[in-house]
Amino acid sequence: MGRIIKPVIVVVILLLVLAIPALAVVARSYILAPVAQPAKAQPIAFPHSIHVNVVGLDCTFCHRGATTQADSTVPALQLCMGCHAIIPTTDRPQLEKLVNAFNSGTPINWTRVHQLPDHVHFVHAMHINAGFNCATCHGDVASMAPGAVVQVRDLRMGDCITCHRENNAPTDCSTCHY
Ligand code: HEC
Ligand code: HEC
Ligand code: HEC
Ligand code: HEC
Ligand code: HEC
Repeated sequence: MGRIIKPVIVVVILLLVLAIPALAVVARSYILAPVAQPAKAQPIAFPHSIHVNVVGLDCTFCHRGATTQADSTVPALQLCMGCHAIIPTTDRPQLEKLVNAFNSGTPINWTRVHQLPDHVHFVHAMHINAGFNCATCHGDVASMAPGAVVQVRDLRMGDCITCHRENNAPTDCSTCHY
């Protein structure tokens, strides 16, 4: 008897040990509170506040992909220069960086704030067309300090699935995973 039971026990223990990482993944998505993260350093301290509240631009003026495709996208400097070619840069180091980069053909490498893992599929357009606005997921970006956009919503699997359930959107694995 012992000869058979011992291997069985070993196998059961092995399976339990292997299950721990899987449980940890689920726990991370559902139980852990969102991590309040500090703002990531940006190459130019871009002020959303001025462009949205003072200049009066729509989010989609710059983030053009949001209503039509998966990625919202961050605009090329060409779009900025539509205005900044004629705005003085004297004593404004942030604008000097912008104009110098444009004139020398160097792209600005903005640091990503939101970034899902590669195996997850997210489509901005579907969510905007379903009636959500940017603030539903990104909060009040226009009130964030220059160069300090932070992630305010969890946006991990548990959060995505909870909202999908509440809105009768699909929740099978292949909706979000390739
Ligand atoms: C004049 C152009 C412009 C306008 C208008 C604008 N943005 Fe941005 N946005 C940028 C640039 C440039 C960045 C990259 C720099 C940064 O993250 O600070 C950015 C970054 C972001 C990010 C972070 C992207 C990431 O890496 O995860 C979010 C979210 C965002 N914008 C949302 C909005 C929302 C919401 C609005 C409207 C309330 C808006 N933006 C209006 C230019 C703009
Ligand atoms: C529709 C016109 C317009 C567009 C497009 C635009 N800006 Fe601006 N931007 C302004 C105005 C107006 C100001 C305020 C200038 C002032 O204070 O005199 C400003 C201010 C700024 C400032 C703050 C300068 C400072 O030191 O006070 C930065 C940085 C900046 N813009 C970067 C950008 C970047 C990067 C883009 C492209 C992603 C962009 N802007 C697109 C009109 C625009
Ligand atoms: C349902 C939630 C949700 C809504 C609504 C939403 N976003 Fe996002 N946004 C995300 C997620 C999730 C990411 C990260 C996507 C990734 O890494 O593939 C993201 C990323 C971004 C980025 C980084 C570049 C990119 O496209 O990945 C920008 C800029 C952005 N969002 C702007 C906006 C703007 C502007 C709006 C409103 C027009 C908006 N978002 C509405 C969830 C949302
Ligand atoms: C605020 C609520 C909400 C949040 C948060 C949300 N979604 Fe959605 N999502 C929806 C709704 C509603 C739809 C259905 C849109 C439709 O069918 O018109 C949808 C549709 C989708 C689709 C397209 C499904 C299809 O029919 O092909 C994908 C992919 C998706 N969401 C991924 C995600 C991911 C990944 C996250 C988390 C990063 C997320 N969503 C967060 C509400 C949300
Ligand atoms: C509505 C979108 C959505 C659906 C549906 C969904 N996931 Fe996810 N999943 C995500 C997002 C977003 C992440 C990345 C963030 C995180 O780790 O929570 C993720 C991450 C994961 C991970 C990796 C965790 C890690 O450590 O990176 C696994 C494994 C996973 N999902 C399995 C599944 C399985 C199995 C199903 C079906 C039962 C499923 N997912 C359905 C959105 C979704």
